[in-house]
Amino acid sequence: MSQVTHGIRSILSHPAIYDLTQNILGAGRSRKKLVKDYIRAEPRDQLLDIGCGTAELLPYLPEDIDYVGFDLSPRYIEAARKRYGARARFECMDIADFDDDMVKDGADIVLAIGILHHLDDELAHALIDTAWSKLRPGGRLITLDGTLTDSQSGLARSLILRDRGQNIRSPEGYRALAGTDFSSVHLTVREDMLFVPYTHCIMECTR
Ligand SMILES: C[S@@+](CC[C@H](N)C(=O)[O-])C[C@H]1O[C@@H](n2cnc3c(N)ncnc32)[C@H](O)[C@@H]1O
Repeated sequence: MSQVTHGIRSILSHPAIYDLTQNILGAGRSRKKLVKDYIRAEPRDQLLDIGCGTAELLPYLPEDIDYVGFDLSPRYIEAARKRYGARARFECMDIADFDDDMVKDGADIVLAIGILHHLDDELAHALIDTAWSKLRPGGRLITLDGTLTDSQSGLARSLILRDRGQNIRSPEGYRALAGTDFSSVHLTVREDMLFVPYTHCIMECTR
């Protein structure tokens, strides 16, 4: 993993501060768009959320979704279990040590929201391989990360470079990670997900 966990950014390790910061930046609005435009989950879909954080995406998904999420951070997982343990399953785990039994019958949707830019190429490839192997045919992997482009504003660029993740890529860089196994990879660059200037790269990869 390449994630800054010292200095001012270390306070983001606290679940409540992480959630508050996200909400101030407009994460609620971003999650609504993500769910409507890209995730498009159906009731009873099986969904695997890689790097689920505090699972604040869950309230935007259908009530009866079959949701499992995992994250490296024990504090985030503890917060997720406290809030949503009654309707979802959570594990504290590194993507490098993925437990295959987490999703036994295959997933309709795998999410990696805000995580690829925390991972070096080797681990990012491991994440993509895991997602592909866990998806049912026709199932989709959705990723979202901050990205660097020539056309973005200086403010957007400077905010993105302040992220805790140390592997922020260009849209082409994220596309290269998706490889050639998926039957289709649809990539979108958006600048309207948050209240602040920010550029996101979203991939929808269909098995
Ligand atoms: C920007 S946060 C996104 C959290 C959540 N997906 C969301 O949208 O709010 C990135 C998350 O990736 C997790 N993470 C980073 N490296 C990881 C790894 N190697 N395995 C599992 N989770 C990891 C971090 O702990 C953090 O919760």
